[in-house]
Amino acid sequence: MRQFGVALLSACAFCAASHNSYPADCESPEGFAQVLRNSLSSAAAIYLPGSEEFEEVTTRWSEFSTPTVNLAVVPATENDVVETVRRANVCGLPILAFNGVHGSSTTLAQDGKTATIGGGTSSKTVTDTLWASGKQTVTGTCECVSYLGPALGGGHGWLQGHHGLVADQFVSLNIIFADGTLKTIDSSSDLWWAMKGAGHNFGIVTSVTAKVYDIEHRDWAIETLTFSGDKVEAVYEAANRYLSNLPAEITNWSWWLNEADVDPDRPIILFFIIQEGATIVDPAYVNPFRDIGPISSETKSGSYRDLATWTLIAVDSAPCQIAGRANTRFPVYVREYNVTAQREAYDIFAANVGGANSPFSGSTFLFEGYPQGGVQGIDSDSTAFAYRSDSLLIAVRLGYEPTGKELDDQAAQLGNQLRDIIHRGSGYKDLHVYVNYAYGNEKPEGWYGYERWRQARLKELKHKYDPQGHFNFYAPIE
Ligand SMILES: Cc1cc2nc3c(=O)[nH]c(=O)nc-3n(C[C@H](O)[C@H](O)[C@H](O)COP(=O)(O)OP(=O)(O)OC[C@H]3O[C@@H](n4cnc5c(N)ncnc54)[C@H](O)[C@@H]3O)c2cc1C
Ligand SMILES: *[C@@H]1O[C@H](CO)[C@@H](O)[C@H](O)[C@H]1NC(C)=O
Ligand SMILES: *[C@@H]1O[C@H](CO)[C@@H](O)[C@H](O)[C@H]1NC(C)=O
Repeated sequence: MRQFGVALLSACAFCAASHNSYPADCESPEGFAQVLRNSLSSAAAIYLPGSEEFEEVTTRWSEFSTPTVNLAVVPATENDVVETVRRANVCGLPILAFNGVHGSSTTLAQDGKTATIGGGTSSKTVTDTLWASGKQTVTGTCECVSYLGPALGGGHGWLQGHHGLVADQFVSLNIIFADGTLKTIDSSSDLWWAMKGAGHNFGIVTSVTAKVYDIEHRDWAIETLTFSGDKVEAVYEAANRYLSNLPAEITNWSWWLNEADVDPDRPIILFFIIQEGATIVDPAYVNPFRDIGPISSETKSGSYRDLATWTLIAVDSAPCQIAGRANTRFPVYVREYNVTAQREAYDIFAANVGGANSPFSGSTFLFEGYPQGGVQGIDSDSTAFAYRSDSLLIAVRLGYEPTGKELDDQAAQLGNQLRDIIHRGSGYKDLHVYVNYAYGNEKPEGWYGYERWRQARLKELKHKYDPQGHFNFYAPIE
């Protein structure tokens, strides 16, 4: 089970310490662990490489380009995080916050308008806890991902059409900065802008107070249509024609993936149309797709809490498993589908990924058309998230058993090629990237926007709040 924690890392963090004038405790992970043990609460855990617990907390969703961790701390209190960061500073050790399920709590404020969410809480815990009180808020869609991980980079979710991104719900944040100080910040802080989109770069967030809302619609419905690959043009023409600029109640998503029972050789198109406040999806949206001739079409209805299972991203669904596989994603935001580019991408995807024999046969091409109303209703300049006007998030995810550099390079080549096709078809000169899906070869401009003022503002804040670059492992600003 993953937990919220702090990892101290870099390939030779501790040997660097031994060359310098750091205290003797800094020279080895064991010495450092001993010092930490004396200063943390009794419920905090410290794990060194070689132990089973260490493996468990540091195993990542993607076994590609993983950081080298020397010591992992699972804090029990906010002060444990403060102490860990302070002591790491004394030794000059770099820090990575990690998250992704488990620990911490969600508590609803008395007025029912905000909730305080612990730094390690999962999206599912937030949704379930609020639901039990008749409330909801914007979270990521995937049950196994933390609440805060997506939020710090913006955060896309089912309810964004009403209220904006996950980060748009922040009311205040408790942050432990690089110097070990704990502060509560809100909209009066100069850092507020940056925490909504580039938040991973400034500290460790131990809790968030976020806006919550009364549940508006308990009913949700989905239509899942399965098409064969020869229908690419028809499906995406219909999506552009019948599903763009719809009200907040509709979401369209599609995936290309192998489904051997349906087509043993080529990926299928799984097309989801989701409607809020309905027990069946309005035929006006579904019929144009039924007319194309799907292999199958399935109607389901239930509540908001069924969405993750329906769209195959629940805790027990395949994408949520941590199974030692490499998972690399190549994201790009676009305005609408370019049918020519969709066909070109499909053919190359099918040729390289289709069938059971490809090393990449477990891959998925994702097309996420979340409702945009709430996101676009917020001034684009008011947050570090730079891409409010893009309506579709497209990403190929290449999943494979890692065997070495050759296969990694092959994946990188294929992923970049597929992304380039979609990007070229978008009509945008610049590559717009969702930071939370980033492969890593994109530039800070791609993650945080190409406007000069955005880059300058981020750098200025970075120099003020993390001058030594302790929080530089995840999509660093420079
Ligand atoms: C299966 C799957 C489904 C996804 N679904 C969605 C989705 O629906 N919507 C969406 O927007 N994104 C989604 N994502 C992308 C997601 O936003 C990122 O993968 C995110 O980084 C996951 O956060 P985590 O905390 O679970 O992972 P981690 O690897 O633990 O965290 C990622 C990084 O976030 C930072 N971080 C995490 N917690 C803190 C904290 N408390 N304080 C400071 N920094 C912190 C750290 O830099 C850390 O390296 C999905 C990803 C996966 C793998
Ligand atoms: C659905 O797909 C279309 C396809 O072009 C897109 O423009 C739209 O914004 C998507 N989402 C919604 C909620 O309509
Ligand atoms: C769609 O993509 C093709 C191929 O990249 C390109 O030639 C065309 O200009 C694109 N169409 C639009 C409307 O951008």
